[in-house]
Amino acid sequence: MNLDQYLGEAEVIEREGTTALNAANDLDALEAARVAFLGDRQGRVKALQESLKSISKEDKPAAGKRFNEARTRLQSLHDERKTALGRARHAGAQDDLSLPERRVWKGAKHPVTLVIEEIEGIFRELGFTVAQGPEAETEWYNFGSLNFPPNHPALDAHDTLYLEGGGLLRTHTSPVQVRTLQRYAPPIRVLIPGTVYRRDFFDASHAPAFAQIEGLCIDEGISFVDLKSTLNLFAERFFGASRTRFRPSFFPFTEPSAEMDVQCGICGGSGCPACKGTGWIEILGSGMVHPAVLESAGLDPERYTGWAFGMGPARIAISRYGIPDIRILYDSDVRFLEQIAGPVLSGVEG
Ligand code: DAH
Repeated sequence: MNLDQYLGEAEVIEREGTTALNAANDLDALEAARVAFLGDRQGRVKALQESLKSISKEDKPAAGKRFNEARTRLQSLHDERKTALGRARHAGAQDDLSLPERRVWKGAKHPVTLVIEEIEGIFRELGFTVAQGPEAETEWYNFGSLNFPPNHPALDAHDTLYLEGGGLLRTHTSPVQVRTLQRYAPPIRVLIPGTVYRRDFFDASHAPAFAQIEGLCIDEGISFVDLKSTLNLFAERFFGASRTRFRPSFFPFTEPSAEMDVQCGICGGSGCPACKGTGWIEILGSGMVHPAVLESAGLDPERYTGWAFGMGPARIAISRYGIPDIRILYDSDVRFLEQIAGPVLSGVEG
């Protein structure tokens, strides 16, 4: 073969190879074109290489250069096409609308938060505002202003967590009653959710830090009737309770004081494990605000009266959801949270 023939042959192979590689519109067709032109055994480029042998010595450099050129061009065109077709195949898979969406856990509201928000919703409808106060309190707000005598056992360091340099972690949300009364003038209707701290061991029914919800209503002419009717309405709305009962109790900051029970919604009052066989579930402490508390806040107890209550949303969550151990509420185990919050918290992966 002379040089002209060789160059002509190289031209034809390069052109036909280019056409074949460009025409391949999937990876299988591309591979077939590669084997036909660039294949080691019967590829036409290989054949072109073989025929270099028949070129005279002085023409070999020119022929060899043209051979290399043709082979390199076809090889790089092949590589380019392979990348492009691979990407297209991937893009095609993303367009498969029959695939189910990918679901992702996005987090859930904690059962205690759900209870607090539902209770807030009910009291908001009754004209209550939501207020907050500090978790690090003074002894006066936590105890003194609420009419605790200085020797009351709750003040003992066995029960209360004191802070270095004075102060303590509030043991209840009741000090926010006084803070609210000092800041705003009656009529006052507030709901005060918050975390409180006690020096308790962590066991199935106690935690050293837990949530409380305080309620307070102060105005002229407020009586025990307002307390009972409001709390009965709440019990009906929240628990669907047809019956409640008020038992006499004692708190330093209320007089008279009462604890409210609701009839067990699980057994209807006949007695079951949820209500420990009594037919009743203890929900909250309440009472008419003690005149000494109003005086602490600078209000005239001859003019103003009111009522208050305090309850533990964790206890309520436990009886509502049938949770056997309070510590589960602190574990942050998503398998538990998902059971209560439901499977609503998933979405498409972003
Ligand atoms: N502060 C009380 C406690 O932690 C709960 C309580 C009882 C709050 C009666 C009140 C109330 O406002 O009137 O045990």
